[in-house]
Amino acid sequence: MTTMDDVTVWPFTGLRVVQGDLELRYLSDDLLHELAAVAARGVHAPDRMPFTVPWTRGTPEEVGRSVLTYQWGVRSRTSPERWSIELAVLRDGIPQGVQGLSATDFAVTRDVTTGSWLGLEFQGKGTGTRMRALALHLAFEGFGAQVARTDAFADNPASNAVTRKMGYAPDGIVTLAREGQPAVSQRYRLERADWEQRGAACGLDRSGIELHGVGPVRRFLAID
Ligand SMILES: CC(C)(COP(=O)(O)OP(=O)(O)OC[C@H]1O[C@@H](n2cnc3c(N)ncnc32)[C@H](O)[C@@H]1OP(=O)(O)O)[C@@H](O)C(=O)NCCC(=O)NCCS
Repeated sequence: MTTMDDVTVWPFTGLRVVQGDLELRYLSDDLLHELAAVAARGVHAPDRMPFTVPWTRGTPEEVGRSVLTYQWGVRSRTSPERWSIELAVLRDGIPQGVQGLSATDFAVTRDVTTGSWLGLEFQGKGTGTRMRALALHLAFEGFGAQVARTDAFADNPASNAVTRKMGYAPDGIVTLAREGQPAVSQRYRLERADWEQRGAACGLDRSGIELHGVGPVRRFLAID
């Protein structure tokens, strides 16, 4: 009988990005259930909506289930041509949110998009900034990205602040339907050269970031 370890059959299981007390780690089912509970306790104030798909509305059970079904769906659609790598964010070992990186035809375009959320109870403590820096390190250093993109509704100051700190350039606006109303979303784009030059200039600590398990993922994504 042939035996296959987890990384061989699903390379993302070994993926980790670590910097001191902060870690991005493969979103296992155990972590996913813990993060469903985090989301069920709240991701934003009720009068706000940072997402195009309003998955944070509803009862705590509905919100938790939305996290599970969304993430199961993402996994099932993973292919080298179109992927979304969703990583658990842990600080001091406590699961606090999700940091995602997604791309289409990345092996050709080297163009990646990020998105994230933290439980409301964990926000405003610098974690959002640091987890974006880890995600960008994975994208640029780990996967050889040339461009990283992100976007945020104009009325989401925390997300826009994190993005600006990283040195992204504004890349246009678009009006989207959000809960039946028009809402302006700001797009941003970060070139590899700007990421490399940014470093200490914006006071970000990028020292001591460790990448683990990148090789098997690169092979799956056909980057190597
Ligand atoms: C966006 C998010 C990931 C940021 O994480 P965080 O840990 O709260 O962010 P940080 O503490 O690292 O930094 C937040 C920055 O926003 C700024 N900020 C927060 N609220 C602000 C406000 N009302 N006005 C102006 N700036 C604000 C903070 O001052 C800080 O910037 P600074 O370090 O220069 O002072 C988190 O707030 C979150 O998950 N929000 C809900 C979901 C969401 O919006 N996801 C993104 C969708 S695009």
